Amino acid sequence: MEKQKRDTWGSQLGFIVAVAGSAIGLANVWRFPYLVGNYGGAAFILVYLMCLAMIGFPVLMAEIIIGRATQANPAQAFAKLGRNRGWRAAGMMTVVTGFIVSGFYSVVAGWILGYLYEALQGNLTSFESAEHSQAYFESLIASPTWGLFCHFIFIALSSAVLIAGVRGGIERWNKFLLPILFAVLIGLVIRGLTMQGSSQGLYFLLTPDWSALTPAAFLVALGQSFFTLSLGQGTMVTYGSYLKDKENLLTTTFPVVAMDTVVSLLSAVAIFTIVFSVGIEPGSGPGLIFQTLPLVFSQITGGTLLAILFFILVALAALTSEISAMEPTIAYLMDERGWSRRSAVIACGIAVFLLGVPCALSYSLLSHIELFQMNLLDFFSFVASSIMIPLGGLFAVWLVGWRWKRAAALEELHAGAESTFAKHRWLTYYFDLCFRYLAPALILLVFLNALGVIG
Ligand code: PHE
Repeated sequence: MEKQKRDTWGSQLGFIVAVAGSAIGLANVWRFPYLVGNYGGAAFILVYLMCLAMIGFPVLMAEIIIGRATQANPAQAFAKLGRNRGWRAAGMMTVVTGFIVSGFYSVVAGWILGYLYEALQGNLTSFESAEHSQAYFESLIASPTWGLFCHFIFIALSSAVLIAGVRGGIERWNKFLLPILFAVLIGLVIRGLTMQGSSQGLYFLLTPDWSALTPAAFLVALGQSFFTLSLGQGTMVTYGSYLKDKENLLTTTFPVVAMDTVVSLLSAVAIFTIVFSVGIEPGSGPGLIFQTLPLVFSQITGGTLLAILFFILVALAALTSEISAMEPTIAYLMDERGWSRRSAVIACGIAVFLLGVPCALSYSLLSHIELFQMNLLDFFSFVASSIMIPLGGLFAVWLVGWRWKRAAALEELHAGAESTFAKHRWLTYYFDLCFRYLAPALILLVFLNALGVIG
């Protein structure tokens, strides 16, 4: 097999923007707001921040140093550090996880594109009741062609970005799209805050309801911190492997975690201020953006423009995440099989499309198929997010904390950030503690809970 020269990021900023683009996605603008609504407002936010600090951030760091140290795709990276076939299989599993995530993620992202089209047509502003907007959503997803077509377009867009390479595609498009995303988000927040009655939304968001903090809420917060940082599925290992120089990882990754969190919080502020200002109860659960928001857009002046901006925001966030979920598979095909990027992207794009087909049809032609009482979309999403992702994250910290020689792992962690670690000595203890004990123990907890072993 002919060895190809590995792609690298063009600059430190390019890396930061790509990692941020991967992290910021549907989990921030769609999932986080409804989780906060369901699980006790500010109380949930607090628990979520704790999860980020104890697990999310350390696991992110672990994955990036695995990639940077080995300069390889996840399967090879895990094999190099783990030094046996079992570890190779663990790395391979994370690649497969990313692949599965890209399949179902694209289906939901396709709905967003479909809704963007509806918004552009002015179809999202004439709802009179919650039943009405719900029926509209249900009629759309019940159409097999609508679901498949939207999914196809989204994969095609993602593949087009990926084909242009790490620098020319991923880095370039993230640099272009992320600022637009921020601008739209800030616009929506300002609009929300300046609406009459917006304080009720803030009140709802910021009042802690401690009684909603059930054990389930803790686990949801943990799962959310994993998914939102794109952990446990090869993405961050792969993005780390494109880092050529030993840069200061603390000053590059911390701002990303902060940005990701700010986007989640601002999305919640925008959504809840807008929803409450028209006196609608925020629908709980996933219906929030496909059902509640269109109803809200129907009742405010400038609703059409707001709807268009909102769905542009979500679509961009999803696009920069989707490409990062597909990239580990592409890196694998290039590194291990010697494929050209072009062939790898086309093959991966087609395979992801096919994998998404049953998910896209899970509310129409295949709605009768149930696995463990879930439709196909929910099933894939459950298996990936609740089983494979926590496992992948667990393997990453285990590899760094226990299998890699401790001194070597810490040296890799420090590389490029020596002065920061020297100034703040506790940081080394913190990462060491998280890698070896805290993160693995807590992940195990989520995992056992997801499997129903503990409840
Ligand atoms: N982090 C993305 C989000 O918040 C989801 C994602 C998962 C992206 C896995 C890439 C890989 O929506």
